[in-house]
Amino acid sequence: MKRTHHCNALRPADAGKNVTLMGWVDTKRDLGGVTFIDLRDREGVTQVVFRPDSKVQETAQRLKSESVIEIAGLVTVRSPDTVNPKLATGQVEVVATSLVVHNACADLPFPMEDDKADKVNEDLRLEYRFLDLRRPRNLGLLKLRHKAARAIRAELDDQGFIEVETPTLFKSTPEGAREFLVPSRLQPGQFYALSQSPQQYKQMLMVAGVERYYQMARCYRDEDLRADRQPEFTQVDLEMSFIDREDMYALIEGILKRAWKEAIGVDIPTPFPRMSYREAMDRFGIDKPDTRFGMEIQDFTALFAGSAFKVFREAATTSGSVVRAINAKGLADLTQGELTNLENIAKAAGARGLAYIKCEGGEWKSPIVKFFSEEEKAALRQKLDIADGDIVFFAAAPWEQASTILGRVRLESAALLRAKGRLAIPADRYDFLWVIEFPLMLWDEEEKRYLSAHHPFTAPVPEDEPLLATDPAKVRGQHYDIVLNGVELGGGSIRIHDTAVQKRVFEDVLKIPADVVASRFGYMLKAFSYGAPPHGGIALGFDRVVAMLAGRSSIRDILAFPKTQSGQDLMAQSPGVATAKQLRDLRIRVVDEEPKAKG
Ligand code: AMO
Ligand code: AMP
Repeated sequence: MKRTHHCNALRPADAGKNVTLMGWVDTKRDLGGVTFIDLRDREGVTQVVFRPDSKVQETAQRLKSESVIEIAGLVTVRSPDTVNPKLATGQVEVVATSLVVHNACADLPFPMEDDKADKVNEDLRLEYRFLDLRRPRNLGLLKLRHKAARAIRAELDDQGFIEVETPTLFKSTPEGAREFLVPSRLQPGQFYALSQSPQQYKQMLMVAGVERYYQMARCYRDEDLRADRQPEFTQVDLEMSFIDREDMYALIEGILKRAWKEAIGVDIPTPFPRMSYREAMDRFGIDKPDTRFGMEIQDFTALFAGSAFKVFREAATTSGSVVRAINAKGLADLTQGELTNLENIAKAAGARGLAYIKCEGGEWKSPIVKFFSEEEKAALRQKLDIADGDIVFFAAAPWEQASTILGRVRLESAALLRAKGRLAIPADRYDFLWVIEFPLMLWDEEEKRYLSAHHPFTAPVPEDEPLLATDPAKVRGQHYDIVLNGVELGGGSIRIHDTAVQKRVFEDVLKIPADVVASRFGYMLKAFSYGAPPHGGIALGFDRVVAMLAGRSSIRDILAFPKTQSGQDLMAQSPGVATAKQLRDLRIRVVDEEPKAKG
């Protein structure tokens, strides 16, 4: 069994050759007693003709779409009026003399044409993922992913990195995401945790003298899933010794530049702009700003210090609280449902309400406008550039919360404006941005303690180190995030490589009990006293990189076998139950997860 060409190979110069092609029946037509089959493989499509005088036409006529066949025949140039300019092979066809059916296809669960298949329920497509992937556009996404990986590997190789694999059967790490546990049969009652990232191993590789490590690392996190979050995903994970933040920025810019060039032929300008965490929150209300449009947050705290509107006056005169606003230009005609949704988004971020002003027909419509003085109105109009058709949203709250509320309202407003065709963002616009100067720690109101802004291995800015003991909130971390169009593509940091500092962060700042530190991180603290080089690293979410290259909003599209929102693989039907024997071997008993309510 040997094919002579793939289905995107034949050209007029091949006329007169006897060829053998294999592939899937894409489409079939009967015209004037002749049967035409578009034969498709990974590379493309070639038209095959079955004439009435051939012995195989009858079989051809009975073929179902997506059956796998092998044909042999003669390459013939098509007459000018039958040339298909849409196909690379459109000037020729193969007149079949033989046909072998390798596998007949059953009735398809959904139509395979992109325009129809795209409208099919995603669950059904995921159940038949082998069919959905077969659509040329989806196979193209796998090729794109491959090209991006190849470009990134090539760049890292040029920069002297070596690829090292690290274990995915690891152990539980406090301070990280929720983990998947794997019971150990050989150590009954003990559990591995699937690695959330190779963070600790890659730091050990630096202590081991590897100097430049990378890995296309599989990572596992038991989080609530979203369009850009899967329970298992891939990181371009890397770590370097003897470097500083500037080296890291240059390296990542080089990697992304090469990936964009080699995967989609786009030149992205470098270096990328940088913005501090404080500025990102202040202007955009989020630590991963989408800078492709304005609608920036403006501050009116001073303006409302003497306001007749109590909510604003009180915020404006309370230390740490602010009154801030955004102008969603052209969104005044939003529906009540859309407004309610925005209010709910604000409330989910902790707002008590979402005050607004609609500007329609030269009038300001708002439940609160009656409280505003002429001076206040003039200042709002001027600073927010308010015009007819606009709607202004306010948040009165502590700075971080007010910013976050408006940051989310801003993104949803932009989504509404885009859906209504009033905010145009070119598909090929790539706003890369470094977000830097994060605080090392953020106070967690729920847990009533500090949590690492990135992770506990991030080094403080050296001159802030003394503040660890006195005022942890003021310590800046050597952490950097790379953001693209409002998506966090990756994050990393310069690490602590000093036992004493690392111990202080674990025990004094994060308040992890000393015995937990000893059992979970003891080996790291030990390693740092055996010649640890200064080092730092980063991980890019490779799935997100590829989704961006592909212009997709969901990383499910660019994974071969993604999981659903509820963490299931609908094709293979995982997860599944374990047998009684498996559970016995592991000494595990399954109890009802939720005791049923009585009565
Ligand atoms: P972090 O936790 O920020 O850092 O992860 C790095 C990047 O991985 C991607 N990512 C995900 N992608 C898909 N699905 C998920 N569930 C998911 N979670 C994270 C994101 C994110 O920016 N060890 C550190 C890196 C370092 O410090 O070197 C780490 O894992 O794009
Ligand atoms: P009230 O005077 O409490 O009825 O509030 C008037 C309007 O202001 C309502 O639309 C509320 O949703 C809104 N509002 C109340 N508190 C805040 C706040 N902290 N920030 C922004 N808007 C608010």
